Amino acid sequence: MRIGILGSGLMGAKLGTIFARVGHHVVFSYSHDQRKLDRLAQSAGHGARSGTPAEAAESADALLLAVHWSRVSDVLEKAGDVSGKVIVSCSLPMNADDTTLVVAHTSSGSETLAKKVPKARVVSAFSTVPSEVLFTVFSGRRSRKRPSLVYCGDDAGAKKTAARLIRDVGFEPVDAGPLRIARYTEPFTLLMAQLAYEGTRGPALAYRLEWRRERKA
Ligand SMILES: NC(=O)c1ccc[n+]([C@@H]2O[C@H](COP(=O)([O-])OP(=O)(O)OC[C@H]3O[C@@H](n4cnc5c(N)ncnc54)[C@H](OP(=O)(O)O)[C@@H]3O)[C@@H](O)[C@H]2O)c1
Repeated sequence: MRIGILGSGLMGAKLGTIFARVGHHVVFSYSHDQRKLDRLAQSAGHGARSGTPAEAAESADALLLAVHWSRVSDVLEKAGDVSGKVIVSCSLPMNADDTTLVVAHTSSGSETLAKKVPKARVVSAFSTVPSEVLFTVFSGRRSRKRPSLVYCGDDAGAKKTAARLIRDVGFEPVDAGPLRIARYTEPFTLLMAQLAYEGTRGPALAYRLEWRRERKA
């Protein structure tokens, strides 16, 4: 797959690197520092390259949106026409100092994003885990008990693409339903962040959902 990374920070750099390592064609974009993008592409290898957001979007089968909420409009404007594109978004609708969600309960960041780019096919994924766990999960991708990753969206084809990428990273994708379910997944991320960054066991935190067979008492 050709994957354009819009936002090459903690999430975009790691996910883009992993996507390149499993054989996808990756273009890293959107940083203040062109040399950082070049270095990132070089260290990811497998033909990864750096580019502008427009170049990342141009022939992409999927775009990873990984910018702060305050940069979403800017990066989308720079990406240009994203009609028909799959946009896998890990961006959360956080305020400037990342202390609270600015969209919640009656809508979600992902739904707000989908309204901004109504012709794109938005899937919400990857936001429920901290960046610190991504390489660890990737290393364990062949293990039998893989951690879960919830995702949601309204376009079946786009969700299939997202599920493939989730599997590529080493998670077991859990389809949580339509995009409006991001109203639940986005606040769940704040719980994950609390446990990862305020707990005592470090930030490399993932989760695993298990459905158990009901037993009669
Ligand atoms: N970090 C996590 O663990 C985590 C987990 C779940 C969800 N999220 C969400 O994922 C999204 C991305 O988070 P992140 O932690 O990866 O963010 P980040 O490290 O701050 O990365 C954002 C990227 O956007 C670039 N950028 C910002 N302003 C720019 C500008 N004016 N011009 C050009 N480039 C600009 C940054 O450039 P530089 O390269 O120059 O910094 C960086 O590459 C956020 O919405 C966040 O809430 C993050």
